[in-house]
Amino acid sequence: MNRRPLIAGNWKMYLSVAESVRLAQAVAATSATCPDLDVMVAPAFTSLAKVCEAVGNTSLKVAAQNVAWAKEGAFTGEIAPPMLTDLGVRLAIVGHSERRQIFGESDAMINRRLLGALAGGLQPVFCVGETLEEREADRTFSVLEHQVRQGLQGVTKEEMPQVVLAYEPVWAIGTGKTATKEQAQEAHAFLRRLLAETYEKNIAEDVRILYGGSVKPDNIDSLMAQPDIDGALVGGAALKAESFERIIRFQ
Ligand code: 13P
Repeated sequence: MNRRPLIAGNWKMYLSVAESVRLAQAVAATSATCPDLDVMVAPAFTSLAKVCEAVGNTSLKVAAQNVAWAKEGAFTGEIAPPMLTDLGVRLAIVGHSERRQIFGESDAMINRRLLGALAGGLQPVFCVGETLEEREADRTFSVLEHQVRQGLQGVTKEEMPQVVLAYEPVWAIGTGKTATKEQAQEAHAFLRRLLAETYEKNIAEDVRILYGGSVKPDNIDSLMAQPDIDGALVGGAALKAESFERIIRFQ
């Protein structure tokens, strides 16, 4: 098993350009001392250019929080893959639950974004996760299966090594209510089995699956100790250099 851990910060709709640059520089300094893992930050679109400029020659990877599928066109409010790669952006989050729930993004739209990212040379960080109602109705696995199958439609096995999957139970996001390490591991193992069924076992073994949802300095170690958890997608705790540093330095 050669999955390189990935610790990712999703800054959501927070931080000015100057604050983003300062935080990215601090995170890049931490990342430079951790050669055995990847570190990523996803600033707001308005900060991407300056952040890429500031950390462009470091190991820190910069991601966008979403991406359009077309190279260009009449898509008011959207950002195309070449606009991002032009800045030095390497990855793009797609299918975040806030995009699904607040902005009504469908599985089909998320699939188009994911394919657009791959075609445009961006690594998609593809988010899936069930709501509390779905979990309580015992539908977690069927929801995850549906989201994964729809979201990955048309993605070839050759492209799969570029894809990062993120399991983010909606009820754990921003609530301080993390999934237990057992709940997270169970979902991750399910997702990996699903990838093995859809592609091949060795491809599934190499795909990184991140956990997201109230990841904090005090729960990162036990989450990362789970065999199928390969990293974290961190919201609130990624907005402060000290707490994100402790997460990057998980034990
Ligand atoms: P929190 O870490 O704030 O719960 O957010 C998780 C998340 O949505 C990351 O994408």
